[in-house]
Amino acid sequence: MLYSPLNYQGNKSRIVDRLLSLLPQDVSSVHEVFCGSAVFSFASAVNRVYLNDINIHITDLIRYFHENDANDIIEQADNIIRQYGLTNTFYEGKNRYPEHGHEGLSRYNKAAFNRLKADYNIDKDVAKLFVLSIYGFNHYIRFNSKDEFNVPVGKIDFVKTLRDKTRAYCSVIRNKEMIISNYDFRSEELYCGVEKTAVYYFDPPYLITQAPYNLFWTEKEEADLLSLIDGLNADGYRFILSNVIESNGKQNELLCGWMKKYNVKHIYRQYLNSNYQKKNKSNADEVAITNF
Ligand SMILES: C[S@@+](CC[C@H](N)C(=O)[O-])C[C@H]1O[C@@H](n2cnc3c(N)ncnc32)[C@H](O)[C@@H]1O
Repeated sequence: MLYSPLNYQGNKSRIVDRLLSLLPQDVSSVHEVFCGSAVFSFASAVNRVYLNDINIHITDLIRYFHENDANDIIEQADNIIRQYGLTNTFYEGKNRYPEHGHEGLSRYNKAAFNRLKADYNIDKDVAKLFVLSIYGFNHYIRFNSKDEFNVPVGKIDFVKTLRDKTRAYCSVIRNKEMIISNYDFRSEELYCGVEKTAVYYFDPPYLITQAPYNLFWTEKEEADLLSLIDGLNADGYRFILSNVIESNGKQNELLCGWMKKYNVKHIYRQYLNSNYQKKNKSNADEVAITNF
């Protein structure tokens, strides 16, 4: 089990052990094409990992965790928290901030968070982005079309569990040999000169669930991805595809038809993080599809 301090939407922390149990022993490198916070690659025993995501901000954060010591990252975050006057209940205690209804700490942090957000949108300092991801609503890392971070304030601050996750994540990341890129998944660069002992791991946006990065994912992208994976299979490459075939009464029929030619492992769980506002949460049918 590996938890990331980013709590990235759709991250694979809760099911990573089950996914890793599918990974063959002889894998020389993992190519994670939709890496997000890359929990799968980092939790694996494979040393060389190729991480790609179209979102440069998430890979900036990964680089930041790779290149810096966890204690320095935590200290930098605490300095920013102090500088902007955000709450820090780890040091100050919770009693100092009586909570009103379901607001959590949001009313205490709103003004400071908005100042930090405005400054980050000018200087794009990755240490500030980490603090924004901690204090932002539902830990979203979301940008608008002008490339501005546009998440409102959330309810919690830099609690002990997030500090512990930062240390655990950094200690794993720092030992990896990592190659980062920011291509669209259809780019040839991701598939050139890759050895046959590699494994591709795909965890794309899901057609039938909700997350900020799902907005630009349509049936066209889904169909392109499935045909690209067919091509890799024909060329003798191994792959694992994570997805959800049923959620809240919706079915991904395209995927259901396509996956019949491969091996399908069903993993049932709830995406509480992505379905945060839904009152009637229902189980999603989450699958891992492989060709080995
Ligand atoms: C389900 S998330 C991956 C989560 C990841 N497995 C983790 O553990 O955090 C899907 C990712 O795909 C990325 N993405 C969306 N469209 C993309 C595209 N066309 N090419 C490459 N990456 C894309 C999003 O930015 C997002 O980070």
